Amino acid sequence: MWKFLAILATLGALTSCQTVEPPAAQQVVNTRVAMVAGVNPAAVAIWDITNDAMDESGELDPVRMDDEAWARLREHAEMLEVWSRRMADAEVIRAAGPDLVGRQVPEGVASRAEIQAMIDADPAGFRAEARDLAERAKLLVEAATTRDLAAAGHRAGEIDVPCQGCHTRYWYKQGSQELEEVRPKG
Ligand code: HEC
Repeated sequence: MWKFLAILATLGALTSCQTVEPPAAQQVVNTRVAMVAGVNPAAVAIWDITNDAMDESGELDPVRMDDEAWARLREHAEMLEVWSRRMADAEVIRAAGPDLVGRQVPEGVASRAEIQAMIDADPAGFRAEARDLAERAKLLVEAATTRDLAAAGHRAGEIDVPCQGCHTRYWYKQGSQELEEVRPKG
């Protein structure tokens, strides 16, 4: 009996040792993977759900925001928060470069090396944009949890601000015509 407990204790000590060291994947974030696998699909889903449920006055319709729509909105907002925090907290931010094979990226985006150089020149600014997105996603999670129609509608629209903010500083080629067109005015 005691021998058995001793083995369990050893096993426990071993597993707790292993969990002390955080997995390496959380320390390095690949910007393109974060966008393609996490941030973009979550944001697109959020905008689809809220656009579908929007009435003529631009407010969310309580009938169209049924149980399923609220649950999906919350789930995607949570995913958006997780991925943007991962970008904000990563020790190493690695640019992957535009999708040259799929050719689905807009004109005027920078090369992988240029994106990396822009991030390395001001990583704190990059993390601040990522944190801003995480905070906005968190407010959307709260609005979806309390089923606050007005807040959910406005929060969903406003997550676009850090997307634009970060892209103009860290994704588009500086000085490009396309950048002038997307740069937030004012
Ligand atoms: C903290 C900075 C940051 C924020 C915030 C951000 N992005 Fe990005 N995004 C980038 C960078 C950098 C790239 C270029 C990635 C690369 O090529 O390595 C990118 C690329 C993309 C791409 C192109 C991916 C491809 O196919 O190459 C999409 C789509 C995208 N972002 C969507 C979004 C949306 C939607 C939001 C807001 C909900 C957002 N991003 C917020 C930094 C950001």
